[in-house]
Amino acid sequence: MKLSASILALALGLAASLAMAAEPIVIKFSHVVAPNTPKGKAADYFKKIAEERTKGAVKVEVYPNSQLYKDREEMEALQIGAVQMLAPSLAKFGPLGVRAFELYDLPYIFPNKETLYRVMDGDIGKKLFGMLNAKGISGLAYWDNGFKQMSANKPIKTVADFKGLKMRIQSSKVLEAQMKAMGANPQVMAFSEVYSALQQGVVDGTENPMSNLYTQKMHEVQKYLTLSDHGYLGYAVIVNKGFWDGLPADIRATLNKAMADATVYERKIAQDENDDSLAAVKKAGTTEIYVLPYKDRVLWHQAMLPVHKEFEEKIGRDLIQAAYNVAAQVEKEKAAAATAPAQKDKPGPTKTKK
Ligand code: LMR
Repeated sequence: MKLSASILALALGLAASLAMAAEPIVIKFSHVVAPNTPKGKAADYFKKIAEERTKGAVKVEVYPNSQLYKDREEMEALQIGAVQMLAPSLAKFGPLGVRAFELYDLPYIFPNKETLYRVMDGDIGKKLFGMLNAKGISGLAYWDNGFKQMSANKPIKTVADFKGLKMRIQSSKVLEAQMKAMGANPQVMAFSEVYSALQQGVVDGTENPMSNLYTQKMHEVQKYLTLSDHGYLGYAVIVNKGFWDGLPADIRATLNKAMADATVYERKIAQDENDDSLAAVKKAGTTEIYVLPYKDRVLWHQAMLPVHKEFEEKIGRDLIQAAYNVAAQVEKEKAAAATAPAQKDKPGPTKTKK
């Protein structure tokens, strides 16, 4: 009798530990944009491949559209471990105390995507991720959303057109300075509140890549859009460091690889998603679209450029210079490629008949 009771207890204990072993590790991945954006799609793709490749040992719960937290709150939620993964815009790290991330917000700092990727994937990007560790955060990847466009309820063509406009910005001091440099009145606001603020006239306009503008239906409440590409918006996929470091090594390795693959996917779709959104806004016909001509682009650039100097100390002169150097290198390579004879015209090795 005694023996069967202890066998039963043993069996129950075994069943309980098996059930525990079968409990998946849950990763709550919170973000603020729509599911049909580059970030939204890549988050869903990461979920899919992470769950498949860990054979159910990991469950990724994606919460889009600020369902769980708004911008500011989601950072705090990550730090206290209420969620494990986020992909905030690079403009949202200042309030965390990591001001160097505002490098990415400097207007016109990236003349092209090639420069941007080299900055993100090279020493600069790594250095910035290193700064997050002291905040209990690890950076896993940089995701893309492309260049920003300006929208408002009045046409914005020249610098003078910005005068007195209330423009919603993300929580970045650089963006604040950029709008002030244009003569506008910047207003920091959580992403989830932008649509109604535009609708109710709390602000006159905003800046965003096309995919955000379209999926948040901002075009329905913005009469004018200027395609200016004046600044960049991308993301850092970040995790709670304690959580990530505490994962079993094999699981962490599988997840890191899944994240690398999700990043390739994300960068591949980012441009198309933005192009499709622009086409959809054109089709909707609610917003007059103006392509900023080169001559005005130069004037916008001139007006915004003092912001680089103003933030040298906060961001780091060396970091800004390093980004300029990358841009110059890319330019040099492009020029060399343009003047080099095409491969097919190059003399090949002479074949000698034996
Ligand atoms: C914004 O607040 O405008 C963006 O950062 C939203 C996002 O995550 O793309």
